[in-house]
Amino acid sequence: MDRDLALNLVRVTEAAALGSARHVGRGDKIAADQAAVDGMRRMFDTIDIEGTVVIGEGEMDEAPMLYIGEEIGKRGEGSMKVDIAVDPLDGTTAVAKGLPNAIAVVAIAPEGCLLHAPDMYMDKIAVGPKAAGKVDIAAPVEENLKSLSKALNKDISDITVTMLDRPRHEELIKRIRKAGARIKLFGDGDVAAAIAACFEHSGVDMLMGIGGAPEGVIAAAALKCLGGHFQGRLMPGIYNSADEEMKRCKKMGIKDINQVLNMEDLAKGNEIFFAATGITDGDFLKGVVYYENNTAKTYSMVTRAETGTIRFVEAIHKLDKKPAYAK
Ligand code: FBP
Repeated sequence: MDRDLALNLVRVTEAAALGSARHVGRGDKIAADQAAVDGMRRMFDTIDIEGTVVIGEGEMDEAPMLYIGEEIGKRGEGSMKVDIAVDPLDGTTAVAKGLPNAIAVVAIAPEGCLLHAPDMYMDKIAVGPKAAGKVDIAAPVEENLKSLSKALNKDISDITVTMLDRPRHEELIKRIRKAGARIKLFGDGDVAAAIAACFEHSGVDMLMGIGGAPEGVIAAAALKCLGGHFQGRLMPGIYNSADEEMKRCKKMGIKDINQVLNMEDLAKGNEIFFAATGITDGDFLKGVVYYENNTAKTYSMVTRAETGTIRFVEAIHKLDKKPAYAK
């Protein structure tokens, strides 16, 4: 795939972030999400790809834009055929309440390389490059903490595990505390949290716990590029009835619902691109900041698996010249 696609992907996540950031703290998560979707969708139309949304805003009948199966991109003659996973706003509640960790994200891969995950829950484990291959979602948490401690050359008491602050994690939290590690709970946005585990300065060493399956695929694509390690296991029966979710999995081509999903199952191969822009401040990206004269600054990251180059892009946007972002 053309490496210059990377900068265009940053434009896509910037557009979503700029749209959504206007809604920070306004208490309306639907409007915040819609603005992100509108911005992202509009920018995709300017990019020379023949893309199909495989992870999106929902099924065709649930979402008018960026729905699963939607064909997007300029789709000119000779355009690259790609699968696209989007989350224009991961952290709708975070934006509505002005809380940290909301980002706009997109991952792109050749056709057939991203798992088509239904909107259900997934158990996840994610670590950075130094611990890649050293933890296993099927192992007891105590064992994973020991392996992580060895891989990072850190005492267990200096390890920080991050996870969504949800009652379903009560037992996991108890066991991690008993093993002596630190815990950082967050309200929303486990894509950003998985990525944070790849950056030592984030202070976070491992993401664990149950979050959205579509977010899991996007996080896996990101960690593939960043050299980290991600595993997931689908958890039917929490979000909807197990029967219904199993049916959806089958429809989407997932044969064994209990299987441990490794990086190659979630985001196959090396031709993967990932971009993210901060909407509210997080552990690895700052959120959108507004300045005088209707200017705004965005903080983004873009990376691709083939080279592993990670670019951080700070952009100043003169919003008067971008009518789409008018107040
Ligand atoms: P939304 O942006 O769709 O609200 O998702 C935010 C999020 O925190 C995800 O990052 C996470 O995977 C999921 O919600 C967890 O779901 P729940 O809030 O039901 O625990």
